[in-house]
Amino acid sequence: MTTIRTIPIRHPVFMEQCAHLLHGNQIRSRGFRYTRPAPMVYEYQWLWDSCFHAIVYRWFNPGMARDELLSVVEHQVTEGDDAGMIPHMAYWNGDGSDLWGQRRRSIITQPPLIAVAAWLVHQRHPDLDFLAALFPRLVQVHAWFNRRRDPDGDHLVTLIHPWESGWDAHPRWDAPMGLEHPTDEQSKAARHALVAQLRAQGCHAERLQAAGSFAVEALDFNAIRAADLEALADIADALGADGALWRAEAGAVQQAVQHKLLSTEVGADLSGPDETPLLGPSAAPFIALFGGCARPEQAAALVAQLTAAHFWTVYPVPTTPSDDPHFAEDRYWRGNVWPSVNWLIYRGLLRYGYAEEARHLANQTLQMVQQNGFHEYFNPLSGQGYGPAQQSWSTLALDMAESAPA
Ligand code: GLC
Repeated sequence: MTTIRTIPIRHPVFMEQCAHLLHGNQIRSRGFRYTRPAPMVYEYQWLWDSCFHAIVYRWFNPGMARDELLSVVEHQVTEGDDAGMIPHMAYWNGDGSDLWGQRRRSIITQPPLIAVAAWLVHQRHPDLDFLAALFPRLVQVHAWFNRRRDPDGDHLVTLIHPWESGWDAHPRWDAPMGLEHPTDEQSKAARHALVAQLRAQGCHAERLQAAGSFAVEALDFNAIRAADLEALADIADALGADGALWRAEAGAVQQAVQHKLLSTEVGADLSGPDETPLLGPSAAPFIALFGGCARPEQAAALVAQLTAAHFWTVYPVPTTPSDDPHFAEDRYWRGNVWPSVNWLIYRGLLRYGYAEEARHLANQTLQMVQQNGFHEYFNPLSGQGYGPAQQSWSTLALDMAESAPA
């Protein structure tokens, strides 16, 4: 992981607003604390959201940053085939039964960022006890990925539901979902129907692939996993254990992403047992930079694409380029700007030394949120916000603005 400098607070008023928003979204349950992604719309706990919340809290509330991560690992599966998995949703007070057949959790995961978040929190506010509490849980998560989600043993994990990517309704999932130009309602209905299929097949990746169900080795997810393994290695070293094992695993994932997924010019996800490349441009390949998966010349090519007009919009980065036939700036996930995605791309730019581009992305994200409100996602052309107006992860603009190169 790239270490960022600790610098004086640059945006004290915005920080106050972020702290106020996150505080208002906090929930206490059964001795734990977490932050809802948004009141009313998203009341439960979501995995990658909580990681992002912790990353923001590290600027002003390290205790809550730690609690957020300790609560997200609390619903780690402890028995059965999926022991080790951290569910993408935790229902602290129950009622997940109808959809998932489980009262308190979902049966799928989300991008693994817990080690990344924990390491960022620790770098700003060192706390070895906190790292020690998380460490065995994080080891189990990555062992679960290897055991359950890499049936072909190529170091790329397979997603079994679009929800696992965090990009719920992106056009890149249309084909593997068996959809062609779906309406938002059709796409949502298909995601719900897929859960029944997962339950019928016991979430077994290989069986699902064989049945022609959604089974995708996603570029961004695997790049995020590489970064998480690197952070796990850093955590192991800090605890006096040997990080070499995790560093080697991270290296294997980085190589696999580089060779298999970045081998096409634009980068593509692989689908199904024969690893068919999924075509259609998206912002996902830029996340390869976050995971350190690109060679310098690949990084340069990715940055050239990123800064071309169809991605470098007034408010970058739309998840679908603005000149693509699937681009829809106001439809959920089909061409909007998402703070979560921007943060990952921003960190990748920093990692590869693209300071000017990183600074621009941080500035535009900050302006977008300051001018339009703490929304869930935004219009890349006008900046208009969509979804809830008190979405916790919009505060990622603070993390980007505070850590941006001067
Ligand atoms: C939506 C997003 C997902 C996020 C969740 C909670 O489902 O697509 O990425 O984790 O909301 O904010």
